[in-house]
Amino acid sequence: MAHQVRKIGLSLGADVCWPLCYEGLMDKLALSIPWQGDTVGIAVDRVTIEPFDLRQGCRYDVVLDRLTHWYHLSREWIKKAILMDDLYVLNNPWAVQSMEKHTSYAAMMRLGMPVPETWLLPPKQYEPLPDLPITLKRYAKLFDLPSVAKKLGYPLFMKPYDGGGWKGVSRIDDEQRLKKSYEESGKFVMHLQKAVDPFDSFVRCIGFGPQTYLVRYDPEVPLHDRYTMDRNFLTPEEDLLLREQTLTINSFFGWDFNSCESLRLAGVGSWHPIDFANACPDSQVTSLHMHFPWLVKAKLRWSIFCAVTKRPFRKTLDWQPFFDIAATDAPYREKLTAYANIARARFDVDRFVEFCETHLGHLDEVAWEFFGTAQAKDAVRQKVAALYPAHEIEPFTELFWSRVQHWRGSDEAKGGRIV
Ligand SMILES: Nc1ncnc2c1ncn2[C@@H]1O[C@H](COP(=O)(O)OP(=O)(O)OP(=O)(O)O)[C@@H](O)[C@H]1O
Ligand SMILES: [Mg+2]
Repeated sequence: MAHQVRKIGLSLGADVCWPLCYEGLMDKLALSIPWQGDTVGIAVDRVTIEPFDLRQGCRYDVVLDRLTHWYHLSREWIKKAILMDDLYVLNNPWAVQSMEKHTSYAAMMRLGMPVPETWLLPPKQYEPLPDLPITLKRYAKLFDLPSVAKKLGYPLFMKPYDGGGWKGVSRIDDEQRLKKSYEESGKFVMHLQKAVDPFDSFVRCIGFGPQTYLVRYDPEVPLHDRYTMDRNFLTPEEDLLLREQTLTINSFFGWDFNSCESLRLAGVGSWHPIDFANACPDSQVTSLHMHFPWLVKAKLRWSIFCAVTKRPFRKTLDWQPFFDIAATDAPYREKLTAYANIARARFDVDRFVEFCETHLGHLDEVAWEFFGTAQAKDAVRQKVAALYPAHEIEPFTELFWSRVQHWRGSDEAKGGRIV
């Protein structure tokens, strides 16, 4: 019986709090997992940015990546390591690169998801490239924007086809605002999307491998209160629907970590996904507060499972099984369960749950203790200090810390569902 060590790399940018807690908890777990005749431990370190030889090997088994969506050197290093060394990475860099909001809307519409009616508009302005004038002269049709808006029906949202962080998002109630928003959109390629209006509930479903977690979101309040502290705000049917929707989206696009936003149309009760291409979802205690420990635990469980079992990384996306279901006459709700069952199989849900129960049974207790320590509080403080002005560091550290303690007092902290 030999002792093996699997290496997990954290590929990070501005993240502060979750890596500190992830590393702190990994330490305290002191893993020595009996696996196929050996014991397996985990070593974690942070991926550095430096020149690399394309033929050099990769020393990691798993990388949790938070840079690929904007930092191209890391993206290319990761792609190389997948192709040449079978690295397991969250998230799939090709899927992140090519599946912006637009692609994800199109694919999910084909699966029958009630994404609001959406049009894509040619941009208002262009980079002056040599072939541009002749291309536009020959092929760009003059179009009547208000008539597109009329077809969709006000109110509308105009937003970049690949956006994030509310950049360039505007609500449009009339023709005047429509023209103004389009004028202001500049070189962005914009979607015009029918508003889910009025909506009476807004939920973000965070997916991490086969694990899902639902938070009611309030876009009207300051950032630190947007993830609300409500629990049990959905019927069991709604709860399952939103989880199955997230599992479907994530396995379809090869995303292990994503956050799916859906709105419930008031009076009708139908749920409409509006934004579900979030390759690098918010992981900060300063937004997630009482939900933060769940995320850190979910990251630990899934990355440890992938590393110890040497879970093969799915390098290509196989969509046909989803499309085969989409093509049947089954009602949408049945199709969604069938999609989610593909997702459950692809995420190895049964083996994962068994692995967690057998080898990570102490995680809940270790995490409960850890999130009461000065070490955890310092991680919260460091994140707050990175975001808030000096005079607000103390009060906001106390606020987020008190919400983490609120979680420690809840039943969820004692254990509960893994998936
Ligand atoms: N179709 C819609 N109906 C109603 N509200 C919408 C719709 N689309 C967008 N919104 C509102 O605009 C906000 C931002 O839109 P969206 O999430 O698509 O953009 P984003 O730039 O990805 O933002 P984030 O980074 O917060 O996810 C949403 O949180 C929601 O409040
Ligand atoms: Mg959004």
